This record gives sequence, structure tokens and C-alpha cells, in this order.
Amino acid sequence: MALANRKIGYDEIVARDIHFPMNQENVARHWFNGDPWMTHWMNAILAAVPDGERWVMNSARRQLDKLQDPLVRKAAIEFIRQERIHAREHDEMNAAGVQHGVPIDKVEAVFKLIRKQLQHRLSDDMQSSIAAAFEHFTAIISSVLLDHPELFDDTHPELRAMLYWHFVEESEHKSVSYDVFVDASGGGLRAYRLRVFGMLLAVAVGMPTMIGNQSFLIYKDRQLLNLSSAGNMLKTLFIKPAILSKVLAGVIPYFSPTFHPWDDDNRAVLHVWKRVYEKTGDPTAAYEALRRHRRARPVVSADASPVAQPA
Ligand SMILES: [Fe+2]
Ligand SMILES: [Fe+2]
Repeated sequence: MALANRKIGYDEIVARDIHFPMNQENVARHWFNGDPWMTHWMNAILAAVPDGERWVMNSARRQLDKLQDPLVRKAAIEFIRQERIHAREHDEMNAAGVQHGVPIDKVEAVFKLIRKQLQHRLSDDMQSSIAAAFEHFTAIISSVLLDHPELFDDTHPELRAMLYWHFVEESEHKSVSYDVFVDASGGGLRAYRLRVFGMLLAVAVGMPTMIGNQSFLIYKDRQLLNLSSAGNMLKTLFIKPAILSKVLAGVIPYFSPTFHPWDDDNRAVLHVWKRVYEKTGDPTAAYEALRRHRRARPVVSADASPVAQPA
């Protein structure tokens, strides 16, 4: 399975140099549907994007000369192009948050500090393993959110267009860091052990950092006692559509010795976005195509007969 899936998607990777001007209007203080807790849950993740992207790019660059497979090398170069543009756009989004007085810069600084310590102490192969783990997280978050564009119905159109462009490109290159790691580290049992350790380290460091950063942002925003927002966040993360439950479930297969990122082949939903983007060059229209696709998608009702998904 995993071997058959290897290199699926290499022809999907396209670096689209799109600039989304971000400002205080389209990145509102509570940009995620006016909801403070969910906004800061997203902010805690997105704050780490620019530095995280530069770390995974750097890690891939350091492995380029060790790569045996020219296709992996070519994909790695295209991956680096995509991530460079993502980092640029998210820098601008984070800056808009700071202009609102949301201390995203402080949260970014914590991530940078941890990243520097890890970079200083870990081998290239271990960093490459952590990059593969991070990229798996971004792939499963992107996959879940591509399936649920309705979550962003009340988010500014420019911002959600930017986020969905990023989710699509994260999905396109979801196997690259993994394949770079396997190729550069030589594969086999040693690579498997490094891969498992990299994921465990990413979870052990990443989870408390994200929870701490989100709590800090909520506290600084004076929203700690906003219990309805807290309840809404728990519902969104764990009940409907259960973003975090789905993300955590998506981590488990990573520990299989035969795992490959394209075991979850979500090209069908990617192509909904890509077909419209290629035709129009408009990421907003491409997001709207995903939204229409979601409305039309049948779901199975309690009596097992397919019903149309409500808007
Ligand atoms: Fe990215
Ligand atoms: Fe990525």
C-alpha cells in the first residue's frame, strides 16, 4: 500500500505565487466567525507557521545533497518554493493580528526559542524526522478543513481564500518531507525508529506549546470567562465537526511501519479547488467551489439513505 502510494501527488505540486493583502479589516480581532476561543485556537497554530515553514524548508535544503532519488529532489525543490510563499503570507496575517493588540509576536517568539534549541541540539536526520511529523500534522489539519469549508462561512472572504490556498498546497506536498526523510536517512529500521521518535517529540513539545500559547492569547484578550465561546470551541473541536478528534485520529496511522502520507488520498477534493483556480486564477472562486461541493455532498442519514448536506 505504502509503496504503491509513494510519489502520488508529485505532479500535483504547484507553487502559486499569490499575494493576499492582510490588514486589520480582513484579519478581524476575532476573525474566525467572531468567536474568540476558536480564533485563538487557530492563532496558536498559525502563529507558528512562518517560522515552522522556514524550519522545514531549511531541513529539506540540508538533505538535498543526500537524496538518491531525483524525483524526491525535484519535489523537495518545489516544496521549498511553496513554503517560502506561505511563510511570507502568514507573516502578514500575524502582523495584522499584532496591530489589533493580539500578542501573536510573543507566541511566535516562544516557538522560535524552542525551534532554535531543537535545531542546535538535533542531527539533520532527526530534524528531518520532526519536519515530516509537522508536515503530517499540517496535512491532516488541511484535509479535515478542506472537508469542512462551511466552518469559515463568517470569516472574511480574503482571509479564507488565503487559508484554503494554503490548505490545498499543504495537501499537494504532504508526502515530500516524509519522502525526503526516508530517502536521506536511508530507510529501514533506523529510519522507522527515528520517524516514531520524531513524531513523539513533535507531540510532546508541540501540544503543550500550543495549549499554553492559546491560553495566553485568551487571557491577554480578556476572554477567559467567555464560557459560551469556550463551549463552542469544545463542540467544534470534539463533537461537530470534531476537528481535533479527527486530527488526533489521523496521527495514529503514522506509527505504522508501512505508513505513507498518500494512504489518505484526498485528491478528489483538491481537484475541486484546482479546477476552478486553473480556470479563473481566483482563489476566492476556488474556495466557493469547495463550499458548493460541500453543500452538494450527500451525507448518510440515520436511516442510511443519502440526504443533501444543508448549507
Ligand atoms: Fe505551508
Ligand atoms: Fe507544508
